[in-house]
Amino acid sequence: MQKSILILGACGQIGTELTLELRKKFGNEHVIASDIREGSESLMESGPFEILDATSYDAVEDTVMHYEVEEVYLMAAMLSATAEKFPERAWNLNMNSLFNVLNLAKEKKIDKIFWPSSIAVFGKNTPKENTPQHTLMEPSTVYGISKQTGERWCAYYHAKYGVDVRSVRFPGLISWKTQPGGGTTDYAVDIYIKALEEGRYTCFLKEDTMLPMMYMEDAIRASIELMESDGDKLSIRSSYNLGAMSFTPGEIARSISAVIPEFQIHYDPDFRQAIADSWPGSIDDSQARKDWDWKPEFNLERTTEEMIRELRNLE
Ligand SMILES: NC(=O)c1ccc[n+]([C@@H]2O[C@H](COP(=O)([O-])OP(=O)(O)OC[C@H]3O[C@@H](n4cnc5c(N)ncnc54)[C@H](O)[C@@H]3O)[C@@H](O)[C@H]2O)c1
Repeated sequence: MQKSILILGACGQIGTELTLELRKKFGNEHVIASDIREGSESLMESGPFEILDATSYDAVEDTVMHYEVEEVYLMAAMLSATAEKFPERAWNLNMNSLFNVLNLAKEKKIDKIFWPSSIAVFGKNTPKENTPQHTLMEPSTVYGISKQTGERWCAYYHAKYGVDVRSVRFPGLISWKTQPGGGTTDYAVDIYIKALEEGRYTCFLKEDTMLPMMYMEDAIRASIELMESDGDKLSIRSSYNLGAMSFTPGEIARSISAVIPEFQIHYDPDFRQAIADSWPGSIDDSQARKDWDWKPEFNLERTTEEMIRELRNLE
């Protein structure tokens, strides 16, 4: 019998594409999407959907029991830029939803959890270039603090209760299907949309701010490959460093100009600059490559080609 998978926060930037990919792989009826709001037409119409608050243990448990769920992908969270505006709400959402799924697994009501962490776990004292898997971590944002704490709890639940929880530290994610949800790397999606709509973009980060990024197709593949890999080979139960490419706003602008020569960019940094300055520029993901054969496929040029082609198709 095919396993049953529940996605919490399925209508967001990652959840939407993750749900569609999991449905393709495991069958529409076996992948239950859920969120506190409705999502895109393709998500709502391709399989089961529930309005579900990930912070309510009872509601999540009911859904798990009803659909005989074995695996949960927890995508509900408040992201970095929004969390700075609502620190307490961010902490409550990011931590309570994680405890709910960890406790469901501890009680053997589900078998496996995917929970994404972020490069926001690092801080300004972390080595910025090729940031190691194990290093100094002093996050300065509410979001980063919640992710670092979450990582420690994941490792604890695995060591103490044998909970099979798997995690990656996503860099900024670039996608065309769903708008990003309030992160510091959102500019790397908006820039393509504005380049096509208006031929110009005002960036909220400085021209030379180097950040690690990843195209959504790689991120979805990483998540599913990690979940499908042999658990005995996983040496990291906090969260794996995950890399693909690194670039600055200046570099992404030049890659867009190569396709749209009239494109113009201006820089007007806001509060997100300080968040970006506290994050790494590039990531050492050799442990993920060793343990579960992680390998990215998209660099900046290929990402720009795909983004412009797909966004043009939507017009
Ligand atoms: N997008 C990125 O660049 C990025 C980078 C690193 C890590 N991550 C992590 O990946 C995960 C998903 O991120 P995303 O970009 O898809 O976020 P998003 O903001 O686009 O989506 C989050 C979804 O969660 C839903 N949600 C909010 N509160 C909820 C609740 N109480 N119960 C159920 N659903 C709720 C929202 O409606 C939204 O659809 C998060 O944990 C995020 O921290 C994302």
